[in-house]
Amino acid sequence: MSPRIDKHLTDSDLAAALARDVRAGLPSTPKELPPKYFYDARGSELFEEITRLPEYYPTRAERSILEARSAEIAKVSGADTLVELGSGSSSKTRLLLDGMRATGTLKRYIPVDVSDSALLDAVGLLAEEYPSIELHGVVADFEHHLEQLPQEGTRLLAFLGGTIGNLAPAERAAFLASVREQLSPSDSFLLGTDLVKPRERLVAAYDDAAGVTAEFNRNVLHVINRELSADFDVSAFAHVAVWDESAEWIEMRLRTSTAQSVRIAALDLEVSFAAGEEMRTEISAKFRREGVEAELAAAGFALTSWWTDAPGDFALSLATPI
Ligand SMILES: C[S@@+](CC[C@H](N)C(=O)[O-])C[C@H]1O[C@@H](n2cnc3c(N)ncnc32)[C@H](O)[C@@H]1O
Repeated sequence: MSPRIDKHLTDSDLAAALARDVRAGLPSTPKELPPKYFYDARGSELFEEITRLPEYYPTRAERSILEARSAEIAKVSGADTLVELGSGSSSKTRLLLDGMRATGTLKRYIPVDVSDSALLDAVGLLAEEYPSIELHGVVADFEHHLEQLPQEGTRLLAFLGGTIGNLAPAERAAFLASVREQLSPSDSFLLGTDLVKPRERLVAAYDDAAGVTAEFNRNVLHVINRELSADFDVSAFAHVAVWDESAEWIEMRLRTSTAQSVRIAALDLEVSFAAGEEMRTEISAKFRREGVEAELAAAGFALTSWWTDAPGDFALSLATPI
C-alpha cells in the first residue's frame, strides 16, 4: 500500500511558531527556547547520532525493554493501529510493529513528527519493510494537533524516547490530558520515561566526549539564523548540561563566551547577550515510578504495567483510560 502523508504543520507554520517563540523567549530573563526547533533535517540526523553514543544509554535501555515486552504489549493492548508521537526515525518502533504483526493484529502505523524530513525518510523505509500495512504519516506538533490525528482502529498510542521529559510539568499535565481526551476506552497509551539516577551518568549522557550533543544544541542557532535571518555567532556558544537536583531534570543551555548583540532581521529584533550569559534550550526531566503513576492518574489513565531494563535506567509504562 502506498503511504499517505498529512501535513498539519507547513514550513510557514513552523517559521511563524519559531518567530513567536523567539520573540517571547529571547528578550526574557533568563533567555529560553523550546526544544522542538532542534529538529530540522540536520538536527534529526544529529539526534540519531546521539542515540548511538556510548554515553547515551536511554535508547539502548528502551530498546531492550521493547525487545522483551513488545509481544506482550501487542497482546495486552489488542491494538491494530500504532500511533507514535515524536516518532523520528521510528527505529525502535519496528519492535512494536513486529510484535503486533506476530499477534496478527497489525493494520496500520501512524507516525507523527514535527520534522518532515525525519518522518518522510522513516515512512519511505517502512513502506518497503511493511508492504501490507497502511502507513499514514502526519507532520504535526503533538502539543497542538492531537485532535487532528486519524481516529481509525483500536489504537496503541506510543510516546517513546523519554521525549515527555522535554515538557515542563504544567505542559506535561496539559499534554497528558489532551492525549487522554483523544483515546477511547479500548485504546492504550505506551509511555517511555528516563529514570532518576546519579548525576555523573545523566550529565555524561547530555555532554558526550565526541561533542555530538553540543553540535545538536548549537543547531537551534543555525535554524534561527537561516529561518529568521539572524546573525548569531554560533561558534561563540558553548554547550552546557546541568543536572538540577531539586527539579530532577537536565538542563541544556548555550553559553556565549563573548558579549554579542544579535540582530534577528525577520523580526526586526535586536537581542544582547552579556559575556558568559546562558540561554536554556531544553529540559529533560527524569522520573520515578510514583510520579509517572500520579501524573497518568491525574490525566485519567490507570497504569497497568511498568517495565524497566535490567539496570533500572529507563521505564516503559502501559496505561489505559479510566
Ligand atoms: C528525543 S527525539 C525521540 C525520537 C524517537 N521517538 C526515539 O525514541 O528515538 C524527539 C522526537 O520528537 C520530535 N518532536 C519534538 N517536539 C515535537 C512536537 N512538539 N511535535 C511533534 N514532534 C516533536 C522530534 O522531531 C524528534 O523526532
